[in-house]
Amino acid sequence: MGQIVREQGRSLKEFRLLPRYTPESLKSDTVSLETRLCRRGNDYLRMHTPILSAAMQAVTDSDMAIAIAQLGGIGILPVSQSPEKQCTSIDAVKRFKAGFQTNIVTLAPDNPIGDVIDIMAENGYSTFPVTESGEFHGKLAGIITDKDFDERYDRSHTVAERMKTDVQVGIEVNSLKEANTLMIQYGRGFLPIVSKDGMLLSVVFKKDLDKHIQHPHATIDDEKRLCIGAAVSTHPEDRDRVAALVAHHVDVIVVDASDGHTQFQQELIRWIKSTHDVPVIGGNVVTADGFRFLVEAGADGVKVGMGIGSGCITQVVKATGRGQASTLLDVCDARDEIAGNTYIPIIADGGIKGAGDMTIALALGADAIMAGNLLARYTESPGSVIRNADGEIVKEYWMEGSMKARNHRRYAQLENTFFEEGVNGHVPHEGSIYDKLPAMMQMVKASFATAGCGTIDEMHDNAILEIQSFASLQDGDVHGMTQVQMAQEIVL
Ligand code: IMP
Repeated sequence: MGQIVREQGRSLKEFRLLPRYTPESLKSDTVSLETRLCRRGNDYLRMHTPILSAAMQAVTDSDMAIAIAQLGGIGILPVSQSPEKQCTSIDAVKRFKAGFQTNIVTLAPDNPIGDVIDIMAENGYSTFPVTESGEFHGKLAGIITDKDFDERYDRSHTVAERMKTDVQVGIEVNSLKEANTLMIQYGRGFLPIVSKDGMLLSVVFKKDLDKHIQHPHATIDDEKRLCIGAAVSTHPEDRDRVAALVAHHVDVIVVDASDGHTQFQQELIRWIKSTHDVPVIGGNVVTADGFRFLVEAGADGVKVGMGIGSGCITQVVKATGRGQASTLLDVCDARDEIAGNTYIPIIADGGIKGAGDMTIALALGADAIMAGNLLARYTESPGSVIRNADGEIVKEYWMEGSMKARNHRRYAQLENTFFEEGVNGHVPHEGSIYDKLPAMMQMVKASFATAGCGTIDEMHDNAILEIQSFASLQDGDVHGMTQVQMAQEIVL
């Protein structure tokens, strides 16, 4: 007989935080949810909002990745698509916003305006630097924007005939703050930065400054571009995928496996860490052994959770899985035991229904959570908005192990004997993530304040959690009355 763990597996939903002393200075708006996602070099990739959008077709594409990174989290592109598609999405996220930009379409004076019109139609750009050679780092000759020509009559004119040459520039400015100040002073939407002899070095856009002002806590890389992660499988062909993702400046690689305690995963992580300079999050594991195993393999962060995703049927078909609270209790203890070495962030993945679950996961030791269902509800997720049979507005949400996604590699299955480990369905459409996520994070912050904790580290050290009986949990739900929606209220 093997081993029987006689304690019951615990769900996040069975725990409640007990209040602790809250000083006047600790309010929900003074709480910081800044967190470490994973090791990066000698430091950590840090985020202001401890949330990752799941590596699922129904959750993360470039729109979701842009939105969640602007709100301080990070999106993880699913592996169940071609590497080319993942790279195109990374490019879209990296292009969305930057500080000093050096990778933008540049024109030569003798290009016909017809070309400019075509580029604008294809890419949506409206402002282009013009250099003598047409190369980005050539000598600046002028600027052309969509306001400088008439699409109806100017196709055969050259860029030189229509561009502006009295361009205000920043000379060898290398502080972004200084460049933005100059751009505002000149009243322009675009500032080229040039060397003393007029060679174009970089450009700064006012729209990027506006985005920064609107979302000051966005997750950004060293070049002020939004951060993004991408999933890879442990299959050997995905080594080329890793190389492509790194070449496109992915910020973190997430190994996508429902069971990460495998030789395949160990070999992949070791290979990535010895060949590429990119952080790797390993997973998923649910035991202390699994956690130590991935840390020894070189993982910079560890993702935990099995059999608890909202549409997951792994527990039904394979009888494997574990309550997420038990998982966190075990893996966080294992992390404490190896403390003294580096701190390895832990991401709680699956089954997070809202602010309450998030708070409990963080209090139990997680550094961030990954969500699928919760985020698939928002306009920015890839699923279509449809009206269901009851007339409700819903969004499609399908699991990676469903027939629709057929991500057989995540489940170590063979393509020709594929069986489902997840379902395909709908979730309510709840509006835009830009409205909803900040409100949800405000609730998490309010819980932190009640628990007397101002940061995630304080929560890890000081939170007092208690397991609740079934009856106590029932007391915590609306009981003894029926709820009336505002719109249904009848005033007599
Ligand atoms: P949710 O936030 O509860 O919807 O869970 C999302 C998580 O479920 C993902 O991040 C995956 O770890 C996991 N997951 C995704 N697809 C499947 C599946 O088909 N079966 C089991 N787990 C899945």
